[in-house]
Amino acid sequence: MAARTPRHAKGQRTAPEPQTHLRRRWLDRYCTSPEAMDASLGAVDITGCVLDMCGGPTDAVATRLRSTCEILTNDVSSGRPADTNLDASLESFPEDFLAAYSGKRPEWVATSPPYSRALTFVKAAMSLATKGVTFKMHIFFLEPCADWGGWLQTNPPSLCVFLRRAKYTRANNAKTSEFWGVWYTQEMSCRNRTRLVFCPE
Ligand SMILES: C[S@@+](CC[C@H](N)C(=O)[O-])C[C@H]1O[C@@H](n2cnc3c(N)ncnc32)[C@H](O)[C@@H]1O
Repeated sequence: MAARTPRHAKGQRTAPEPQTHLRRRWLDRYCTSPEAMDASLGAVDITGCVLDMCGGPTDAVATRLRSTCEILTNDVSSGRPADTNLDASLESFPEDFLAAYSGKRPEWVATSPPYSRALTFVKAAMSLATKGVTFKMHIFFLEPCADWGGWLQTNPPSLCVFLRRAKYTRANNAKTSEFWGVWYTQEMSCRNRTRLVFCPE
């Protein structure tokens, strides 16, 4: 009889980015809802200067936080009227950002990056933010795959806010599981404990 236990793949990597985005939205522009923003702000206190490194001034982060925070926006798409149009997936992004802002650093980076390359964006954000970063990502980011399993072990998020499943297309069965991962960059960091928050149904 065939074994019924699963085989746990070692060294498995995430799928490469498709060359053409026939069915995906261009630049992974799947937008954050006001409800998702509220869920994040219910669990983490975001103050001061906030950078959305993958979004413009009319997107959820800027819209929700503009009345209480100084907002900076960046989106690689020149079609978005962001403060800068830098490519935040480049290793040089932190330097490029500091050059564009004469060395000014945001207290927080709050953003929703293209999900498949999220770690690159998280690392860049952590090297820029003085207080913390909060990223809305797909739940697959918490899977210990070869791409970022080791990094997650040494850098577990301080907080995970699990969201209700989101629907970005008309297909009923196409729902996406997402969460906000929060990393504090300084003394607030509690490296060995991750607080879990679950949004109510
Ligand atoms: C998941 S959407 C988030 C959109 C919006 N900020 C929100 O939260 O509703 C990803 C955004 O990242 C932008 N983007 C994609 N690749 C990028 C890159 N390499 N650098 C900066 N922005 C990028 C896209 O143009 C898109 O607006």
